[in-house]
Amino acid sequence: MSSTEIDRGNWGSKLGFILAAAGSAIGLGNIWRFPYVAGQNGGAIFVLIYVIFVVMIGLPVMISELSIGRRTQKNPVGAFKVLFPKSFWKYVGGLGVITGIGILSFYAVIAGYTVGYFIKIILGDFNHVLTGDQSAAIFTSFTANPYVSISLLFLFVLLTVMVVMGGVSAGIERWSKILMPILFVLLILLAIRSVTLKGAGAGLSFYLKPDFSKLSLTTFARALGQALFSLSLGMGTMITYGSYISKKDNLVTSAAYVAFFDTLIAILSGLVMFPALFAMGLDPAGGAGLVFVVLPSIFAKMPGGMIFGAGIFLLLAVAALTSTISLLEVPVAYFVDEHKWTRKKAVIWMGVITFIIGIPSALSLGANSVLSTIIRKDFGFLDMMNAVFGNYSLSIGAFFISIFAGYKWGVHAVAKEIEQEGSIFYYKKLWMFIIRFICPIAIFFILSYIAWTGNYF
Ligand code: PHE
Repeated sequence: MSSTEIDRGNWGSKLGFILAAAGSAIGLGNIWRFPYVAGQNGGAIFVLIYVIFVVMIGLPVMISELSIGRRTQKNPVGAFKVLFPKSFWKYVGGLGVITGIGILSFYAVIAGYTVGYFIKIILGDFNHVLTGDQSAAIFTSFTANPYVSISLLFLFVLLTVMVVMGGVSAGIERWSKILMPILFVLLILLAIRSVTLKGAGAGLSFYLKPDFSKLSLTTFARALGQALFSLSLGMGTMITYGSYISKKDNLVTSAAYVAFFDTLIAILSGLVMFPALFAMGLDPAGGAGLVFVVLPSIFAKMPGGMIFGAGIFLLLAVAALTSTISLLEVPVAYFVDEHKWTRKKAVIWMGVITFIIGIPSALSLGANSVLSTIIRKDFGFLDMMNAVFGNYSLSIGAFFISIFAGYKWGVHAVAKEIEQEGSIFYYKKLWMFIIRFICPIAIFFILSYIAWTGNYF
């Protein structure tokens, strides 16, 4: 191990890295965002395109980000600067730093809600919920309270700040190892209950039987954004996390594991959500409140349901925390590496800024009528931030990263990094082709279509 590796810290093992990266990838993106975006975009047809994008765009871009990170041992801005000083590429890293704060600001709002729901379940607020409408009414009144939303946002940013202050640490590895499998098992049990509800069949076919008449180019844009968001790509998270991987590890297989588990959890949470949603007569295109409405109504129909409910929201909060840590780590690593700030100063400042930018999002799910409807009747400030940073910024970032890996730094440089210490680059030729000819062209085409139609939201 070189001295720089010792100074910056490394993941404890290959498994340690996979857990940390999976911890970043698996979060609200899978359980909160994936089902509602799928619901708004035609169900099964969206899922199909999503999975294709995970394999054809997500995985190749993840391999690129990890190899840039491991080679340079830097944050995204520093990484591009090391490889090509005095070029414009550092601005791609800069976009990632801004995107990290942008995503974190609204992500922490939803993460705060999962903590709020955990508390509400413990307090017995859902003991008498029987119908989807009752559950929806609880969500509406919960989010209408500005003090609650802002306090929960504050709490979650504070939690993230506290963890990141300690450095990307053994703690994440240890906790993820225990909690993620539990989350997985709980989701399986919920899925079983959901698919056995009366009237679940319609939900299953909505989710699993593609209806090609619902296909539009907009579906591709939303699926691309969702795939990148869910895999934590396009803003340099994986560059930053890659900088802590040991040279011995095989980046390709690590990336494949992360993408596989992330997709598995997303698919599974759809299987929890859609059958129940149809069984209860709710609208699949209902938007950002979907999980908060659907989950409690499933618990109501399970023996010991409220214990389940408390467990799942607690684990969801933990899954969100391992993602918010990675979001905050990008700007923090940037200020520490490039501006020589102390870690403490960087973490506190980024935390304060995130909290302030997060406030309008916290008020936009019902507390403030202007912020709630800023774009459309059903499209508020949080939705806008989610689209701008969670879809478009990441897509633009992924476009440039694929150009960088495919042409600028070059496919052979990436291959050399991956093949260190005898690691095998599986499907090398295929990756080289995809990263040069599929990823940038597909992303460019999709973004141009959106810009051309003005169908941003
Ligand atoms: N991938 C995380 C999730 O699905 C969110 C995230 C996006 C984290 C971008 C880091 C970077 O919850």
